Amino acid sequence: MQYRNLGKSDIRVSEICLGSMTWGTQNSEAEGHAQIDYALDHGVNFIDTAELYPSNPMSAETVGSTEEIIGSWIKSTGRRDDIILASKVAGEGHDYIQHGVDISPQKIRASIEGSLKRLQTDTIDLYQLHWPNRGTYHFRQNWRFDPTQQNTQQTLDHIHETLECLGELVTAGKIREIGLSNETCWGTSQFLRIAAANAFPRVVSLQNEYSLMCRNYDLDLAELSHHEQVGLLPYSPLVCGLLTGKYKDGARPAGSRLTITPDLFGRVNDAIWPVVDAYLAVAQRHGIDPAQMAIAFCNQRPFVTSSIIGATSLRQLAVNLAAADLELDDEVLEDIYFVYRRYPIPF
Ligand SMILES: NC(=O)c1ccc[n+]([C@@H]2O[C@H](COP(=O)([O-])OP(=O)(O)OC[C@H]3O[C@@H](n4cnc5c(N)ncnc54)[C@H](OP(=O)(O)O)[C@@H]3O)[C@@H](O)[C@H]2O)c1
Repeated sequence: MQYRNLGKSDIRVSEICLGSMTWGTQNSEAEGHAQIDYALDHGVNFIDTAELYPSNPMSAETVGSTEEIIGSWIKSTGRRDDIILASKVAGEGHDYIQHGVDISPQKIRASIEGSLKRLQTDTIDLYQLHWPNRGTYHFRQNWRFDPTQQNTQQTLDHIHETLECLGELVTAGKIREIGLSNETCWGTSQFLRIAAANAFPRVVSLQNEYSLMCRNYDLDLAELSHHEQVGLLPYSPLVCGLLTGKYKDGARPAGSRLTITPDLFGRVNDAIWPVVDAYLAVAQRHGIDPAQMAIAFCNQRPFVTSSIIGATSLRQLAVNLAAADLELDDEVLEDIYFVYRRYPIPF
């Protein structure tokens, strides 16, 4: 396992981050704890969560229970200092989180207190804005994305007051570093510019969807990562399990995510299956596990700090963590390049 700095900070995180959004729905508290123990035993020191989790499905009844599961692990093991803990304040739209309001200083202050309490800790190492108030082309909104209705001054004022609030929380010791999620190149640039002008905290990471099948980041955001030292934390590197091969030839394993969320939140359409098959064929041709190929690909991208994986069993987790030992050679990368040229954006 390699370790990399979060942006310009001195926090070092493992190149694989343990995602947690199935703990509290698909996974029990005991299973969540077992995943943390196993991951730490195999070199992981980085855990990602959110006030919104668990997912698959999200609901008023379960919201917050993923953080509670991490909190009970911290309490029972006393190992808070062994993990770098990332969480997120939710964006607008979920009635059961502060009535679904936009992100604001007031919302952040209430959310951070809730997260700290559930996590049973005094500080969150990386605090992220889950998605921007102004809307985003992420979450499959890329096909009809239209930013012309955004109010520029309102957005800049919001970024200013958000950074100011986050700066106060850093000073109070409640958070250490800040990150964005589901953001754009312009949005991230504004956070960086306003932070520099006002001595507010500087964004260290961007948590966006990225995988063999979702490569929007490769262009302007990759350039931003390089020049600004803001690393990507790719989420859904297996495209929710599609790239493991578990759904090949129409298979639908009981309890798998596709059986719970049949469209994988807009990722499933007729065009994706040839792409999935093409990547599975590359892995097979080179004798590599397809999930490990997908994760190793992310980790070898120059702008990636740590890939956020998810697993619903220790067996899956073992397969995925072994990707840290896999180095894709030029022949594999060339085959991946040809699939990408043929199928650039399938969803
Ligand atoms: N910022 C955001 O908006 C955002 C959005 C999504 C996720 N995230 C973060 O990223 C993390 C990972 O996201 P993700 O769960 O979508 O990642 P993913 O790696 O694309 O998918 C993980 C899912 O694939 C299946 N799977 C994993 N390994 C497998 C294996 N070796 N063999 C067979 N099936 C396997 C499991 O689902 P089943 O067993 O149910 O099939 C597992 O839950 C989340 O926990 C969360 O921390 C953030």
